Amino acid sequence: MAQGIFVELAVPDDPFLDVFCCGQARVDHYFRKREWFAEQSKGGSLATYVYRAGEAGPVVGYASVSFRNQPHPDDASSSKAKVLVISMLGVDQAFQGQSNPSAGDQSYAASVMADLEERARSKANCVALKLWVRSTNARAIGFYVKVGFVRDPGRPFQLDDGDPMLTMRKFLR
Ligand SMILES: CC(C)(COP(=O)(O)OP(=O)(O)OC[C@H]1O[C@@H](n2cnc3c(N)ncnc32)[C@H](O)[C@@H]1OP(=O)(O)O)[C@@H](O)C(=O)NCCC(=O)NCCS
Repeated sequence: MAQGIFVELAVPDDPFLDVFCCGQARVDHYFRKREWFAEQSKGGSLATYVYRAGEAGPVVGYASVSFRNQPHPDDASSSKAKVLVISMLGVDQAFQGQSNPSAGDQSYAASVMADLEERARSKANCVALKLWVRSTNARAIGFYVKVGFVRDPGRPFQLDDGDPMLTMRKFLR
């Protein structure tokens, strides 16, 4: 158990993946269709974790992350540094906005993020956590700000389907 939450590597035959529902269609699809497992199988450093409320307890959520060299400290930088990229994160609706009794007043989502931050801090030369979020996803942005992320100073960039995306980072000091 880390940060008051149980965590292990996700496996594709996890039956909860079929019913996982975080309320964002793109995120639900990524985990339900095991897109993460297909990506993982191609090699690279992508890891997908499943978080549980107890050792054999209900699933709280999933996170797919990888260590990458990225422009740093902002998107316009010509220099790069090692960051932990959170490529997909979802907390099941049953646990959204819920306090984790094993971690004081912290929400379950904050416990997931604390675990990811611990992974970033324990990686040599890792300087930040980084993610991209739709600028229309107010709840996720509110959550990221609450746990210490800041927006990239540049303008949001446009995805193919038209939704502007923000880059957000949490700097490790
Ligand atoms: C993003 C996510 C992981 C956050 O988990 P969560 O349990 O909702 O997070 P928390 O309850 O700890 O925090 C959410 C914060 O956003 C705030 N918030 C909620 N709705 C908001 C809104 N419309 N505008 C701004 N802030 C909002 C809440 O007030 C809360 O802050 P508080 O604890 O200070 O009140 C979860 O909502 C989720 O899985 N969403 C669907 C998938 C998704 O969007 N993933 C991110 C893709 S980049």
